[in-house]
Amino acid sequence: MPMIPELAVAVLACARIGAIHSVVFGGFSASSIADRINDSQCVAVVTTDGAIRGAKAIPMKDTVDDALIGCPSVKKVIVATRTRTPVSMIKGRDVWWEEEEKHVTAECPAEEMDSEDPLFILYTSGSTGKPKGVVHTIGGYMVFSAYTFLNVFQYKPGWVHFCTADIGWITGHSYIVYGPLANGATTLMFEGIPTYPDAGRFWDVVDKHKVDILYTAPTAIRSLMGFGLEYVNEKDLSSLKVLGSVGEPINEEAWNWYNENIGKGKCPIVDTWWQTETGGILISPIAGITKTKPAFATLPLPGVQPILVDENGVEIQGNGVNGNLCIKFPFPSMIRTTWGDHERCRTTYFSTYQNLYFTGDGCLRDEDGYYRITGRVDDVLNVSGHRIGTAEVENAINMHTGVVESAIVGYPHDIKGQGIYAYVICESMVHDEDLTRRDILATVSRVIGPIAKPDRIQFVSGLPKTRSGKIMRRILRKIAEGETSNLGDTSTLLDPSVVDEIKAGAEALR
Ligand code: WT7
Repeated sequence: MPMIPELAVAVLACARIGAIHSVVFGGFSASSIADRINDSQCVAVVTTDGAIRGAKAIPMKDTVDDALIGCPSVKKVIVATRTRTPVSMIKGRDVWWEEEEKHVTAECPAEEMDSEDPLFILYTSGSTGKPKGVVHTIGGYMVFSAYTFLNVFQYKPGWVHFCTADIGWITGHSYIVYGPLANGATTLMFEGIPTYPDAGRFWDVVDKHKVDILYTAPTAIRSLMGFGLEYVNEKDLSSLKVLGSVGEPINEEAWNWYNENIGKGKCPIVDTWWQTETGGILISPIAGITKTKPAFATLPLPGVQPILVDENGVEIQGNGVNGNLCIKFPFPSMIRTTWGDHERCRTTYFSTYQNLYFTGDGCLRDEDGYYRITGRVDDVLNVSGHRIGTAEVENAINMHTGVVESAIVGYPHDIKGQGIYAYVICESMVHDEDLTRRDILATVSRVIGPIAKPDRIQFVSGLPKTRSGKIMRRILRKIAEGETSNLGDTSTLLDPSVVDEIKAGAEALR
């Protein structure tokens, strides 16, 4: 569903009747929706006829219809009206939201549930395989989203909270729906995009609704920075009390711009680090209390015990150190299982290092004991704050006819944080590179969704592999970053000459 009130209503209605919900971001393809439906075996889908994204109309129901061709578990589809676009309505299966509303009473006693019953499944990408269904439970998740919302933002009764995320991601679950509402806060839902009708849209919303807390992603800040201050300065932002950042590392330049031009130097910035799996914020300043430092998530919240380990899982003590970020003890909203495959949960998160939850992130602890998350150390990309698995994109590209093999790596991107770089081997010479590139993009859009489309596609005749057949991603990452000299040891490669060819190709592409 798009970001309309009916989405929050649908989510809360599930919670009230004791049904498990699984929100799917509207930008995913029919095939991604089908994968999620089939993995969860869900019985009902709530959607809209269409959605509006900036100047574009999105055919929601059409996409759901395409997905449902392969989803026998679904018995009912509830369609809320948003765009009045013509849609097919299948007898016995599809019903209109507005029509059904007429036949129900406003009374619906809450179903009594166990605190450890599942509240929702949210699918997220990992370094291997298809996205997995992260399961959160009723008691722990609700307690922790409420607790962190109240404390991190230092929410005061009467404040208006504006989180710019989509409810299709965990940020929207925890800090648009559950956290604010559990505290009785006014939560603002924004359906549009930050640049439509112009780059002043967020500031317009803040001004119009006298927003107290603004919680957004570095990618949005970086993008809006580029449009200049005229869009900011014509709006009254004096209602703002606290600013938040979430989803990816925030660079110092963006932090300072946010602080000076949006917070006018008067609003504490909380750089909140957490994950789909953690359900709520784990490392963050407490607004107005923790002394902040640009680009640092600062300190763990009470009860959270982060530790840094080396590759062997040995704890790195002291300050001024770098390591892999793990969490030592459980906290209320930690992932309970991956839906339908408990073993996958154990191996993904709890087996890399013994007796620790491994986050997948690299982290610096500076001289003051402050934490700075440096980014993923596994094969997961963070593109505009969206989490994308490299294996997933490779599988999608490999589905394109003529593609033999592909390798995906991330590279630094000014606005998105990370861009997607694809190295692709085709069966025979590609005659029209540009057309093949566009075909590959269309394939990725069809299989995963437009958010997973590579930013760059380079055709290669081979990939740097070790004798055992493992792709040396380190080399591919360096080349994608524009590094040409310091590629490290290439002597273990099966065919070292392929590296020169790839370097030359990358140069030509740039
Ligand atoms: C990954 C989790 C947190 C909810 C939205 C994303 C990165 C998240 C920060 C931050 C640096 C961050 C990490 C993490 N990340 N917040 N403040 N500073 N990195 O949830 O899709 O599950 O992604 O986002 O790499 O592992 P997600």
